[in-house]
Amino acid sequence: MARVMLDPRNWYAIAADHDVPHGHIYRTTLGGHELAVWRGSDDALHVWQNRCPHRGVRFSLGEVVDGELRCQYHAWRFAASGACTFIPAQPDRKVPGSIRATVWPMAQGSGMIWTGIDPVGSPPMLPDGAVIRAIPIAKPAAVVTQALPTDGLALMLQPLDEASAMVRGIALDGDLARADRVLTALRRRLERAA
Ligand code: FES
Repeated sequence: MARVMLDPRNWYAIAADHDVPHGHIYRTTLGGHELAVWRGSDDALHVWQNRCPHRGVRFSLGEVVDGELRCQYHAWRFAASGACTFIPAQPDRKVPGSIRATVWPMAQGSGMIWTGIDPVGSPPMLPDGAVIRAIPIAKPAAVVTQALPTDGLALMLQPLDEASAMVRGIALDGDLARADRVLTALRRRLERAA
């Protein structure tokens, strides 16, 4: 997946809180980096590179077991810290500390889950309202950002890769149906444009 230059200091919203219920693993991308967002039984959220350090299988294919993430392929288990805790084929061997998932920064705020390369401070505080349904648009973030409507909406972009972006945000009046209509029309217009 082609990478996009991200501002390393920024927080980027990559999911809504309700996208990741208990025990769920949510797959998304940010700037060409594929990520797995998962929530343990203790309600804690985690953002990891979506790649098992063993053979590279996607973590999002695995499952959450007793607060750990278990890879689907060989069932290696990983604690919330990212450290591998158990290798079934070698049950009596101490797992080397070097075997770790790649953990990304994570913050919650304004009904969203945020991450970034090396984000500074806290995620931006969004105005009160309802979290809209995220809308993917098959145009680069630089194109989409110039067309974002502002009327009644507080919007931001999650650059997915070099060719597409996800629009996320808040409907200030709570009218989610209207927000959906506006953004669906925007997507149609942008994707039809050459
Ligand atoms: S690829 Fe994940 S445990 Fe083997």
